[in-house]
Amino acid sequence: MTTDSSSTAPPGDVASQQVRIFDTTLRDGEQAPGFSMNRQAKLRMAQMLESLGVDVMETGFPAASPDDFAAVAEISRQLRNTTACALARCQAADIEAAGRALEGAHRSRIHVFLSTSPLHREFKLGKSKSEVIDLACSGIERALQYCDEVEFSAEDALRTEPDYLIEVFNAAIAAGASTLNAPDTVGFTTPAEVEALFRQLYREVRHQGRAIFSAHCHDDLGMAVANSLAAVAGGARQIECTINGIGERAGNASLEEVVMALKVRSPLYGLQTRIDTRKLYPASRLLSQLTGQSVPRNKAIVGENAFAHESGIHQHGMLKHRGTYEIMTPQDVGIAETRLVLGKHSGRAALRQRLQVLGQQPDEAAMEDIFSRFKALADRKSEVHDDDLIALALGQDPDA
Ligand code: KIV
Ligand code: ZN
Repeated sequence: MTTDSSSTAPPGDVASQQVRIFDTTLRDGEQAPGFSMNRQAKLRMAQMLESLGVDVMETGFPAASPDDFAAVAEISRQLRNTTACALARCQAADIEAAGRALEGAHRSRIHVFLSTSPLHREFKLGKSKSEVIDLACSGIERALQYCDEVEFSAEDALRTEPDYLIEVFNAAIAAGASTLNAPDTVGFTTPAEVEALFRQLYREVRHQGRAIFSAHCHDDLGMAVANSLAAVAGGARQIECTINGIGERAGNASLEEVVMALKVRSPLYGLQTRIDTRKLYPASRLLSQLTGQSVPRNKAIVGENAFAHESGIHQHGMLKHRGTYEIMTPQDVGIAETRLVLGKHSGRAALRQRLQVLGQQPDEAAMEDIFSRFKALADRKSEVHDDDLIALALGQDPDA
């Protein structure tokens, strides 16, 4: 912990137009099967996340393993413009481990969590409502001794009785928490429900500008991004998310989708983030390389098809005006250019344009011949490449 906190905004301005991006790629993301990273990989990813502009980086769960502890400690020492955060259960040993791991951080946050839903209270914790509140408060108070700020998460908040959740959050604020996270831990909730709950929290919790609400949505029903945006509409000013949407089970809200939705639809939301969106694609690629897990072609924002068009109708439209079929430019997210992929659905306009780029300017008759041979080739191959096109234009057999 350092005394200089000038690099990050003070907590609590709920009316702010700024949405904080809390990245948990290195914690919730990394704990999912297939996505674990060694310390070197985590360090490399952390550098990328800081340059991307995330406000808070959850670097790991120090009590989980000595290596996680070491990774949190090393990353935390290196961050300058991003708050270093470590996860802890509301248990003394976890909190002390998080505090020690964050010792060298420029700005530090301990994220303590405790389940609040009836199911978790009964079967996981075996504790009453008031015991849960006491445990949460003592965890928050203890954590405050080790760091600059404390976030409290009411695990399974979206299946918790709203009145009880409000009571928990009021107690958490009184104990010193400055961020109140209401996770949809099991990805069960719909956007309308999320927005209604956050509106109620914003209205009824005594935050008085001293704490902000945070959303942490899982994707079990494919609604994590929609739910995160709904939370923001209801008053949340922090979104917890991960690159490529990695995370427990079906994953967390995808950072690149949340950020681009806020940007592309800024007249609707009127909110901003600090993210340098041109680094979204490089961040996605780096994570994929470090984990050995590929990104689906059709993944929004960063998938290979996100800015690729094959059908003749779409290509024709794109050649006239890119706004016909693109709502953002590839350069906005760090992708070099739109790809007009030539395949069996493509038409003459795109073929002629690509041939011109390749220095070929066939006359009308030659173009007809090339086009019919192109269609026959495209039926055999899923994608026709530049080498194939040159061969076709030169009257050669691309298969030879
Ligand atoms: O999904 C969840 O509830 C969590 C908490 C630790 C915030 O990851
Ligand atoms: Zn989670």
